[in-house]
Amino acid sequence: MISKNLNDELNKQITYEFYSSHLYLAMAAKFASIDFTGASTWMKTQAEEERIHAIKIMDFIIEAGGEAKITGFEDPEVKGEDLKLIFEQALEHERFVTERINFLMSLAGDEKNYAAVNFLNWFVNEQVEEEATAEAIIKSLKLIGNDGNGLYQIDKELGARIAVGGAEPQK
Ligand code: FEO
Repeated sequence: MISKNLNDELNKQITYEFYSSHLYLAMAAKFASIDFTGASTWMKTQAEEERIHAIKIMDFIIEAGGEAKITGFEDPEVKGEDLKLIFEQALEHERFVTERINFLMSLAGDEKNYAAVNFLNWFVNEQVEEEATAEAIIKSLKLIGNDGNGLYQIDKELGARIAVGGAEPQK
């Protein structure tokens, strides 16, 4: 069984994960509009992953005997038209999500809900990976600066990310 408090907070997390998906899709659209098609593909894949995160939490709530709720959220906002600036916004958002996951983890711990602790552990690890990935991309973009060739190369590399479900990456 799951407490009402933890159930409510997990429902909020579903919304944050769907918001993340929308935010990354908005970033994908922005990248496409400035001709970074590889970065756009990368963000579309990220958006898919976030949707899967949301559904994972929804399924956990249902399995734990709680009530999953799907709610709306505000429009995502992507500032600027610069690759590095946009990835920095993605990193900032991931740091916020990490704080949320840590909060959920401490709540589950306080309530001695070890099933939830175990479930959330996957998200703790996922956040480490997601932050590290965004940091690595930003680091490369800092080195590249305004070098056209470097930007072309990194866009190509970002476009090689394997899509969720194993679909062919964009050439
Ligand atoms: Fe589901 Fe990127 O946090």
